[in-house]
Order: sequence, then C-alpha cells, then structure tokens
Amino acid sequence: MLTDLLKRNGEWSRQRDSDDPGYFTRLATQQSPEFFWIGCSDSRVPANVVAGLDPGEVFVHRNVANVIHTSDMNLLSTLEFAVDALHIKEIIVCGHYGCGGIKAATEDLPHGLADHWLSPIRNLARQYAIDLAQIPDNESRRDKLAEFNVIESVRRVAETPILQRAWARGADISVHGLIYGLKDGLLRDLDCTVSSGHLEAEAAE
Ligand code: CO
Repeated sequence: MLTDLLKRNGEWSRQRDSDDPGYFTRLATQQSPEFFWIGCSDSRVPANVVAGLDPGEVFVHRNVANVIHTSDMNLLSTLEFAVDALHIKEIIVCGHYGCGGIKAATEDLPHGLADHWLSPIRNLARQYAIDLAQIPDNESRRDKLAEFNVIESVRRVAETPILQRAWARGADISVHGLIYGLKDGLLRDLDCTVSSGHLEAEAAE
C-alpha cells in the first residue's frame, strides 16, 4: 500500500514538473495562499480538491466535525499564523452533510474522548432543540445541525482575540461559513459571513 502511494507520488511529481517546469522550485521559496480553510477531517472533503485549488493556494486546519474549541492550541496557532504571518483575507469554515461527527454527537452511545470533543455540538442540539424537532427525518435533522455548527464555528472564530485584534488594526478579513454536499460535490454558502464591518455596526448601535 505504501509502496503504491510512493509510486503515485513520484508519477505526480514528474507530471507536475513536466506540465509546469520550475513549479516546485517556485513553490518551495514561499507560500502565499489566499484562503484559510477550517474543515472536517473526513477523507471525502479534502479542501484543495473540492475547492479546485492547487498546492500553495489554501492553508488548512481540519478536525472531527470542524469544531472550534476556543482553547484549542492547534487551531489557535494555525489561525494566528494564517492571519498574522500569511495575511490571509478569506477564512472559510466548511462543514458537510452526512458528517459522522455530527451523527456521533446526536447519539446516546458513549464515544470516549470524542464525546468531549463534540460537546459544543451537543450544546447546539440542545439550544436549537425546537427548530430541529420540526424536521421529521434523522438525516435532514443532522444536516441542519451541521449547518448550525458551521454558523456557530464562524462566530467563534470571529470572536477570537486573533480576529478581534486584526480587525481593530484595520485588516480586511472575512470569515465565511460553507457546507459541502457529499452527494453532489457542491459547496453552499450559508450566508453567515463576518467581516471587519461588523465592528463598525456594533459601534454604531
Ligand atoms: Co465530518
């Protein structure tokens, strides 16, 4: 299996270099991605592939069910690097329909450590219990919860001191919420973008 993987890598590298001579030499000197992607670890939702982006075009952080824990040092250090060092302007939180993490968070079975990880989703399910109860089938109800999770994650990213500091110094950064459909391969905008403008809106209130 690993031998096959290394063989495919060798073929890919040769093909890439022949299509675009000097590609790797150029990319090795610096990265200047336009997007920072926070998504689910699910193997069916690879950021570069579903967004049609090449190596060097998207900086990525993934975890089970794209949960934002505000004390997650892994996420925070990646976010800080994206904002302060790479000067990324577009942050995307991307969830997906049919997410196993969302499903686990809605089950009454113990999942060990995952239950701790997924606790913000359980809280959301409680918070939106009335809305979710209107949806008759389990799959659609979980997909709605996946959307709520993206919207909540966007809010949490926007509330980090990293984003608040960046906006206070006038940086033009937007945090978007998208959801991906495993069944059609399409990304949908959940229209929950938070950008620097929200600080001015709050100040005017
Ligand atoms: Co998932």
